[in-house]
Amino acid sequence: MSETLILGVLASGRGSNFQSIIDSIDSGFLNAKISALITDNPEAYAIKRAGKHGIEALVIKPRDFSDRNAYYSHIAGELKKRGVELVVLAGFMRVVGKALIDEYRNKIMNIHPALLPSFPGLHGQKQAADYSVKISGCTVHFVDEGMDTGPIIIQAAAPAYHDDTEETLSERILKQEHKIFPYAIKLYSEGRISVEGRKVAIKGYRENSVMINPPLQT
Ligand code: GRF
Repeated sequence: MSETLILGVLASGRGSNFQSIIDSIDSGFLNAKISALITDNPEAYAIKRAGKHGIEALVIKPRDFSDRNAYYSHIAGELKKRGVELVVLAGFMRVVGKALIDEYRNKIMNIHPALLPSFPGLHGQKQAADYSVKISGCTVHFVDEGMDTGPIIIQAAAPAYHDDTEETLSERILKQEHKIFPYAIKLYSEGRISVEGRKVAIKGYRENSVMINPPLQT
C-alpha cells in the first residue's frame, strides 16, 4: 500500500457519501487520493461533485457490454490502470460482479443504510421504519458475492422513532454514514484492518469505537 491510499469511487446518484470522503481528504482527516469516480449513470450528481474537485469521472454503462462479466472486468481494468488500491462503493446501486470482486477481494468497501445483517438490499431505512425497530443505523462492510453480506467493518447506531418515515430516518442515518465511511477508509489506510473469514479485526477499535456512536436521546 502506498503512503497516500489511492481510491476509486463507484457511485450511481447523489454522491453525498462521495462528498464526505472528498471533504475528509481536504480537511486532512484522511490521507488518500481519489483517482477516479466511475458511474453507471450519466445523470448522477456525483459527476458534478467530481468536476468541482478535479476528479476524473468515467461513465461506464452496463448496456455497452455483452454481459456482467465483461462490464465488471472493464471496470476492474480502469481501476487497475489508475493504481487504485481500495474501491469505495458510495451509493453504487448494483450488485458488483465476480470479475471485480476477484480482482479486489476484501478491498471493496460498501456503505449500507441499516445495521446488517438486518435489512439488506434496497430501502434499508424503509424496512427498518416499517418494522418499528428502536435502534437503526448504518454499516460499512467489505463486498463479497452476496447482497450486503460481506464482512462487517464498522457500524454506527441511530435512534428510530415510531413516527419516522423513510425520509426522516434516512436523514438521521445519513449523518452517521458521513462519519463512519471516511473513518473506515482511514482505518484501512493506516493498515489497522485485518480480515479472517467474515471476521474483521481493527487495531485500537475497542478504545475508540464509542466516538462514532451517537448518544441515545431520552
Ligand atoms: C446511501 O444511503 C448509502 O447508504 C446507500 O445509498 C445511499 C447513497 O447516498 N448505499 P449518496 O449518493 O451517498 O448521497
